[in-house]
Amino acid sequence: MPIVVGDIVEGEIIDFTHEGKGVLKVDNFTIFVNGGIIGDRVKAEIIQIRKSFGIGRLVEIIESSKDRVELKFHIDESRGSIPLIELEYKKQLEWKKKKVKLDLAKIGGISDIDIKDTIGMDYPYRYRNHTQIPIAKENEKIVIGFHEAGSNKIVDMKESILQPEIGNRIIGTIREWMERHHIEAYDKRTGKGILRHIGIRTNKEGQAMVILVTGNRKLPHWKELLDMLRKEDIISIYQNINRSKSSIVYGREYIKLFGEDRLLDYIGDYSFYISPNSFFQVNRSQAKVLYDKAIEYLDLDREDIVYDLYCGIGTMSLYMANLVKKVYGIEIVREAIEDARENAKLNKVENVDFIVGKAEEVFPKMLNKGIKANKLVLDPPRKGCEREVLEAIIELNPERIAYISCNSTTMARDVKYLVENGYKVEEVQPVDMFPHTVHVESIILMTYCGSEEK
Ligand SMILES: C[S@@+](CC[C@H](N)C(=O)[O-])C[C@H]1O[C@@H](n2cnc3c(N)ncnc32)[C@H](O)[C@@H]1O
Repeated sequence: MPIVVGDIVEGEIIDFTHEGKGVLKVDNFTIFVNGGIIGDRVKAEIIQIRKSFGIGRLVEIIESSKDRVELKFHIDESRGSIPLIELEYKKQLEWKKKKVKLDLAKIGGISDIDIKDTIGMDYPYRYRNHTQIPIAKENEKIVIGFHEAGSNKIVDMKESILQPEIGNRIIGTIREWMERHHIEAYDKRTGKGILRHIGIRTNKEGQAMVILVTGNRKLPHWKELLDMLRKEDIISIYQNINRSKSSIVYGREYIKLFGEDRLLDYIGDYSFYISPNSFFQVNRSQAKVLYDKAIEYLDLDREDIVYDLYCGIGTMSLYMANLVKKVYGIEIVREAIEDARENAKLNKVENVDFIVGKAEEVFPKMLNKGIKANKLVLDPPRKGCEREVLEAIIELNPERIAYISCNSTTMARDVKYLVENGYKVEEVQPVDMFPHTVHVESIILMTYCGSEEK
């Protein structure tokens, strides 16, 4: 009998989806369920049937996974933001390695390769140096927290175990200010209300930059909020205006309300200025692990010329600069390139050029002008590289490539193209940048092995 809506089914969760849902197989039919972890035997009620899968609601965990851990602390943030939290950390790392391996095999057609064990953290909590927390109104109450898995509903939270303590205190103060001054949550359907998100960036020294995301220019009583936040070590407060109806967090316009233009943070021996809209790796200590691995993979020496595609505020470029002759960093966000140039001065680095623009436009143009390099690192956004970038890499023909990615599916697609054009995957290293989430960061070393080995 086929499974229908309303059925209660039983089975074991065998995997996680890319959204962190549990994957259940019942009579060879796939059902996605929120709430369980791999190895749990569960009862689920079918709430939707689609063509090739069903969606279930977890009714009961009949038998706990042997890899389930008992949490030693209270968690009041949405499990949707940390779906793996109850899976033993060692098993999370194993699952992430398996995911990278599977994606490379299934999407990239690359198997029989050396995939190292995922490098984890000694203390996998409070690692996020940038959080973006949605705000809503429910039953006349302000709700501040992350979304429930696969839903628009926000789970109200006092604190997140992913962010440093100062971030949690800032949420508490903003909540108090909203209640005291009747500041409404912004409703993007009606365009009414004020505040839609809180962005909090923190640095290694425990200082914070606060970004108040509003639906329009109105931000009443902001001076009172400034007064209330004075007890914290806050280096700047920005208002960001986001009029969009989409789920994108930040809009284009930033207004500084208080303090410094940028936050100063550190990776290894280097310091970096970060503008409110510039990318900075969310996990500082794991970023160092990743960058050190990139340096090892590229096997840098004084004669090397390196391209750093999608360079952000120049972190990788500057990290490598002292070891090589020249680095070229390319990045689309103008403010990030301005940060990168400032960061070069700050770290007394002179052999790096930062160029603003789309990698798919700027990089081929630079090659046409004869600006060559023998090594290349790239760290594209989740959607991976445009075809023009991959074609230009093949044209440049660097001897070594370090491909860094937070999305193993697009990475596998891009790596496949490079392999089809003469490159070989030497080693893959997953690095756990986002503990307790389903996100996986990895770095791949590729070397050129010539067209005859295609
Ligand atoms: C994953 S981040 C990596 C940043 C940097 N490598 C780091 O480690 O901090 C990806 C960067 O690519 C930039 N970006 C996105 N699309 C781009 C494009 N088409 N061309 C150039 N840069 C782009 C983003 O603004 C972001 O800074």
